[in-house]
Amino acid sequence: MNEPTQNVWNANLYDREHDFVARYGKDVIELLTPKDRERILDLGCGTGHLTRAIAEMGAEVLGIDRAKTMIEEARKNYPQLHFEVMDGENLTFSQQFDAVFSNAALHWMKNAESVIAGVWRMLKYKGRFVAEFGGKGNVETIVREIENALDRAGYPDNIALNPWYFPSIGEYANLLEKQGFEVRSAMLFDRLTPLKDTETGLQNWLRMFANPFFKDIPEEKVLEILSAIERESRDRLYIENTWFADYRRLRVVAIKN
Ligand code: BEZ
Repeated sequence: MNEPTQNVWNANLYDREHDFVARYGKDVIELLTPKDRERILDLGCGTGHLTRAIAEMGAEVLGIDRAKTMIEEARKNYPQLHFEVMDGENLTFSQQFDAVFSNAALHWMKNAESVIAGVWRMLKYKGRFVAEFGGKGNVETIVREIENALDRAGYPDNIALNPWYFPSIGEYANLLEKQGFEVRSAMLFDRLTPLKDTETGLQNWLRMFANPFFKDIPEEKVLEILSAIERESRDRLYIENTWFADYRRLRVVAIKN
């Protein structure tokens, strides 16, 4: 977790302020349709809420996450389930799974080819890969205003610390096919998402998720940059007293053939 592009996760705050992540993830579980006794890998499980939802449908699930704080919280939340700290870009298990599931995690893994190769290794023949994450154009306004604010504040080099990977359908489907997957569906759609806490919603989101951009910037400068991002995003993202994130999801289903 020492690479500059990785976020530092406060698992408690994540659960308190960003519980919509798990709520929206329920749709992806429907797409997965876990069956009784299937072995399923939840890749980037966070605090484990969706791992539990999958387990409740009768599957044997293993939740993994690169962030130790998330896995500690997941184990506290669901001591009866299995969780392990593991990097999605370097998946290693001796046993294979019927399906790999991932919600709101793959955009943190910039080495998509390694992730896809790992998912392939993890799957049994005919196993399915069902995932949703940020796609091309995700949080476009937020990213633009982060970049503008860093530039204006005299930190243009920090723009390169962008920790996210938001591929198009074409790019991601191509990577999947190159690996040998059969892509059954891929969809890119907008999901303007209300953020909790009306006045400070966007700043809380930035503090939680956009930290890597502010590496080595003094705190008083970070505060100025956050205010600038907020000011410049207000027209587009502050609607009827609520801040929104301009999420755009990429949802894919692929089969190992
Ligand atoms: C997302 O879910 O799309 C997302 C969350 C945090 C940072 C960037 C993207």
